Amino acid sequence: MKWSSITAVATGLVGTAAAQAESVPYTDAETGIAFQQYPSTDGIQFRVALPETIEPGQPYDVILQIEAPKSLGWVGWAWAGQMTYNPLTILWPNGDQVMHSSRMAFGYSPPSAYPDATYQILKGTGITGDTMKFTALCKGCSSWTDFTGEPFTVDASQEARFAYAFSANPVATPSDNTSTFSIHDSVGHWYHDLPAAKSASFDEWVAKNTVAGNGTGAAGINVNAGLGVAGLRRAPLRFMERVRRDLGADVGTRLEERRKETRAVAML
Ligand code: HEM
Repeated sequence: MKWSSITAVATGLVGTAAAQAESVPYTDAETGIAFQQYPSTDGIQFRVALPETIEPGQPYDVILQIEAPKSLGWVGWAWAGQMTYNPLTILWPNGDQVMHSSRMAFGYSPPSAYPDATYQILKGTGITGDTMKFTALCKGCSSWTDFTGEPFTVDASQEARFAYAFSANPVATPSDNTSTFSIHDSVGHWYHDLPAAKSASFDEWVAKNTVAGNGTGAAGINVNAGLGVAGLRRAPLRFMERVRRDLGADVGTRLEERRKETRAVAML
């Protein structure tokens, strides 16, 4: 093949990848934050803003915002585009409050609490009319330990495949962020343009939208406050250590089974 053809193919591939992104620019009037937003066909908006500089393979913070009808029982965002083995950001209404809960699922069953993603609530969180909105700085949404036990980081240099799920059924105890809830009515996947979500204003947006009284209460936020970057890098590994301890020697077998299942699905 001639170089010109190779270049054309390569350009075509890049074009295809870029065309996959389903997010669009959106500036939130309440916070002034310029997000990349995925407007799902279910009337739920998923938004992300990122720091301008992200080192390849290194954890990074994200500002996320979810806007959804308050009539929903719960809404979830899956950070690797799948139900299992990735941080799940779950929201639900509780009167005039928006509750959030950090979870991870280890199978197609109710997800467990996941303490290694922490959320600092920002302005732009609450219920107005028929809409619930959640805005937060998340540490631990972009990197975690995957099902093979290896560190995984969402690649911010290209589109990322995310997933969501929601249910119209209320959670069992809305005032408790460890509440149980039942299976989704629907799930969806999308490609988010992460390079376009980066901004030099990231830190300024966090500072400007930080609200007083953050870090306490039933929402259980900031459980890892003060870890810093080094602590953040260690946090997902500590979580997997706890999982291994809880599951005992059996965890290796389970992880291997899961790996085989995933390979089998990938080959279909
Ligand atoms: C009680 C809680 C939950 C139960 C019992 C449950 C159960 C299931 C089951 C059985 C499937 C497989 C469906 C099929 O293959 O036809 C599935 C798929 C899925 N679930 Fe859940 N789920 C729950 C919560 C969640 C949450 C909180 C999320 C967060 C976003 C989520 C995201 C997904 C996604 C994206 C799929 C599609 C398959 C995949 O990408 O892994 N689920 N769930």
